[in-house]
Amino acid sequence: MKTLDLSHDTSEFEVAAQFTSDGQINESCALEVVNLLDTQGFAVITDVLDSVEADNGLSIVRRYLDDPQRQKGDFASQTDMLYGRRDFCPLPSNPDVLSYAATFAQRLKPAISEYCGTTRKVLEISTMTSYRGASHQYIHRDPDGVLCLFAAVDDISPEQGGTVFVPGTHKFSGTDMMFDGQADFLTRLYQATCNYSILKHNLKTLWSLRKSASFKLDRREWLDRVFSTRYDNHQPNLFRFLLGKNSVFSFNLRTLWQLRKHRQTLSRYFRLVQTAPAKGTVILYRSDMLHAGPDNHTDHPRYFFGMSIARDMVFEEQWREGYSSHESLLENPQTYGDLLRYPPQETASSDLAKAV
Ligand SMILES: [Fe+2]
Repeated sequence: MKTLDLSHDTSEFEVAAQFTSDGQINESCALEVVNLLDTQGFAVITDVLDSVEADNGLSIVRRYLDDPQRQKGDFASQTDMLYGRRDFCPLPSNPDVLSYAATFAQRLKPAISEYCGTTRKVLEISTMTSYRGASHQYIHRDPDGVLCLFAAVDDISPEQGGTVFVPGTHKFSGTDMMFDGQADFLTRLYQATCNYSILKHNLKTLWSLRKSASFKLDRREWLDRVFSTRYDNHQPNLFRFLLGKNSVFSFNLRTLWQLRKHRQTLSRYFRLVQTAPAKGTVILYRSDMLHAGPDNHTDHPRYFFGMSIARDMVFEEQWREGYSSHESLLENPQTYGDLLRYPPQETASSDLAKAV
């Protein structure tokens, strides 16, 4: 997006993972991560996985993406999912996936445990893949009270759509007293500023893809992404935008006037940062901070392994609306404590019995 002031320098949000002999990040590393999560809302932890471990994650993800029977996510953006521009899938709770998820829970325990008690639910374990032609998501917040984890199982360049964050926009007690007591108003306004740029960017990109001889974007997809009134909060869908039907971003004359009036204040308080995590890096973020998954400008898919853990109790309906859980996870719910104790005793002892 050329119209927004977007930084690709994430050095101030990065912490290099350093481990103790029991395989957990050490105390100073955990303190840095917690400090970033508290002050900025997210932390980029490098070298959590080595190259072989990241490759293992990528092969789990690819194996699942190759399965025509896989469950598909129903979020952000549904139209991208329909046309194969994104492939967001909840992963099954099988030993491969649970063991991989447990690796992150166990290695990052000193930081994650500051937010998630052992009885808190694992809301989803998923993979988020985006391909050329996906829309840039609008800047949004995920449902409150969750700690989200994205693991880069492959190198991700900014052009492939590394996640963008608006530092310091997460919610906590007293948030509304920040930014001269106007935090809620100003963050909403900044979100709208970003989203006007994203709307323009998505329309421009869709138009150039429609005209491109080398990219197949047929008339039906074009209409579905620009003029459809079907539910999808992350496509331009101009009718929904103009009629105020998009709960993430809709047209509002008053907002436009306020944007003009508060332009300088917004640029003083807020900025947009785009991550480009190297293979083996983990991003932890508070679900309620402003963020978005950008579009992929390359022919190389962008792969993420993701996991979301509740920081508090979660109303079940909200869980199902906001997060895509695999049916095997719903049938056999896992807690953060289960991941810390993985593999479960029965599995460990039956493996031992087999070995003997
Ligand atoms: Fe999100």
